Amino acid sequence: MFDYITTNLPLFANLDKQFIVKADNLAEIHFEEANFIIHGEALDMLKRLPDGLIQTVVTSPPYYGQRDYDVENQIGIEKNTDEYINRLVEIFEEVKRVLREDGTLWINVGDKYIDGNLAGLPWRLALALRERGWILRSDIIWYKPNAMPSSVRNRPTTDHEYIFLFAKNSQYYYDADAIREPHITFSEKSKMRGGRNHLGKNGGTPEQGKNSGNSNLHRGRWDQAFHPKGRNKRTVWEVPLSKFRDAHFAVFPEKLIEPCILAGCPENGIVLDPFFGSGTVGLVAHKKGRKFIGIELNENYCEIASKRIFFR
Ligand SMILES: C[S@@+](CC[C@H](N)C(=O)[O-])C[C@H]1O[C@@H](n2cnc3c(N)ncnc32)[C@H](O)[C@@H]1O
Repeated sequence: MFDYITTNLPLFANLDKQFIVKADNLAEIHFEEANFIIHGEALDMLKRLPDGLIQTVVTSPPYYGQRDYDVENQIGIEKNTDEYINRLVEIFEEVKRVLREDGTLWINVGDKYIDGNLAGLPWRLALALRERGWILRSDIIWYKPNAMPSSVRNRPTTDHEYIFLFAKNSQYYYDADAIREPHITFSEKSKMRGGRNHLGKNGGTPEQGKNSGNSNLHRGRWDQAFHPKGRNKRTVWEVPLSKFRDAHFAVFPEKLIEPCILAGCPENGIVLDPFFGSGTVGLVAHKKGRKFIGIELNENYCEIASKRIFFR
């Protein structure tokens, strides 16, 4: 069998083992064991993966016209945006095949001004995928509190991007409890506390408050609002941009993709990123007890990612 580490990562021993798998060696791989990076082109390599292997895909394809990744066949340098969208749609068709029936897809993609017009690429991609049968479940705003200042004076400075959550089928794995947020309405500092009269006194719980049993409060809404583990995750995620010195492109902040991995994949399930870059998805998956497979076209990035995950 091809020699690569499957469990108990990262280990500093086994430096001679292979974490980066070439296309030619894929036949020897036990895919279910995962935890490796495939060096190759996303569409070609996806075609080599078996059906229904992956629980969730978390990925950020190259943005249109943004940078040159210095490799043949790279995404993002197509002649026009239609070609770019079509190419991505084709890749995500193959992603759908490798997903389990209860699998999900989380895509972060940036927009672009072309001749002074915002191209609307994230939504164009989202709607194109919906046309191909994906179920669009959520548009999440990634709000970047430390976004780069810009010199624009005739429009607001952009400080957000989209993350779309898609499901393959209407019933899908989603662990809402794993990513609940703290309740804020009734915290000690909340301005709503007195006004809403839900709390009887300091330290009281909503259930003990004046409105417990109020028939105007629908039972389901009540439970949802005061779930003991916190409120359901919201769609605006505030996550600062982070720097990773070895990469010459935008890497995912770990905090941004943590919720996608925790909600989208149980422990020991497999997370895939077909545009692996510096391997943030693999790193977070591993830290959280999930397995991963990465696909990356640029060999240098495969090496950077492998060092980052396996030898940290
Ligand atoms: C935006 S970066 C991903 C960054 C990644 N999320 C991280 O945290 O480091 C996109 C990556 O896709 C790779 N890429 C571009 N075209 C590709 C293709 N056709 N197949 C596979 N990877 C490709 C680029 O080399 C780059 O590393």
